Amino acid sequence: MGGEDEPAHHVEGPSPSLAMKTPADRSVSNTGFFDSVARFYDPLGFSNTMATRRIFRQNLRLLSLPLRGRILDIGCGTGSHALYLARRGFSVWGVDSSPSMIARARAKARGTTVQFAVADALEGLPHDEASFDLVLCAMVLHGHTPESRRVFLREARRVSRGLVLVQDWRPFPGMTGVDAPLFRFLELLERSEYASFIRHGEEEMRGEFASVTVMPVHGDICWYVCRSVR
Ligand SMILES: C[S@@+](CC[C@H](N)C(=O)[O-])C[C@H]1O[C@@H](n2cnc3c(N)ncnc32)[C@H](O)[C@@H]1O
Repeated sequence: MGGEDEPAHHVEGPSPSLAMKTPADRSVSNTGFFDSVARFYDPLGFSNTMATRRIFRQNLRLLSLPLRGRILDIGCGTGSHALYLARRGFSVWGVDSSPSMIARARAKARGTTVQFAVADALEGLPHDEASFDLVLCAMVLHGHTPESRRVFLREARRVSRGLVLVQDWRPFPGMTGVDAPLFRFLELLERSEYASFIRHGEEEMRGEFASVTVMPVHGDICWYVCRSVR
C-alpha cells in the first residue's frame, strides 16, 4: 500500500498516558504465549474467523464507515479479520506484539495491499494521531490488566478519528454458551484477565470515551462501539 493511501508511519514518542505503564504491564501483552500458539491459531479456529465474518457482514454498515476508509486492526493475530476487511474494500493495516503472529499474517497477505507490522499498543503505535476511520481491537482487551487496558484504549483512541471498535466477551456474567467451558479453559491457559474484563471492561471504556454502545453480536461476543465525540 503506498501513495496517498499510506498513513504516515512517523514514530511518535509515547503519549502521556503511556508514561503510566508499570513494569508489570510489560508482560501483559503475553507475547511469549501468542508466539508459541501462532502456528496452531488458524488450524484450531482460535480466530473464530467465520463467526467474525458473519458479525462484520451483519453489523459493519451500522458504523457508517467511509468508502475505502482506513482501518487499523490492533492485536490482529494472524490477520484473518484485516484481510477480510480489505476484501470489503477498506484500506487496512494490522499490528500485533507477537512476531510469530505477524509472520503468519504476512504470509497470508501476499498479493494484497494489507500491511502488517510488529507493534505493541502499550509501547505506543507507529501511527500519527487520527490516522484511522476505525480502530478495531478483537479479542485483545480481555487479556490485559485494568491498568494496561486503559493505556491500550488511550492509544487506540489517539490513532483513531473518533471510532474504536472493541469486539470481546460480553459483560458479566460473561460466557454462558455451550462452548463456555472450552473458552474458559483457553482463558486460563492464556492467563488472561477475563474475570476482571467482564466486570469492569465496559466501565473502563466509558471512562475513556464520550460514548460506548454495547451490542451483542454473536453468542457471548459483544461489540463495544466506543466514540470519542458524541
Ligand atoms: C486472542 S488474540 C486475537 C487475535 C485476533 N484479533 C482475533 O480476533 O483472532 C490476541 C492478540 O492480541 C495481541 N496483543 C496482545 N496485546 C497486544 C498489544 N498490547 N499490542 C498489540 N497486540 C497485542 C496478541 O499477540 C494476540 O495475537
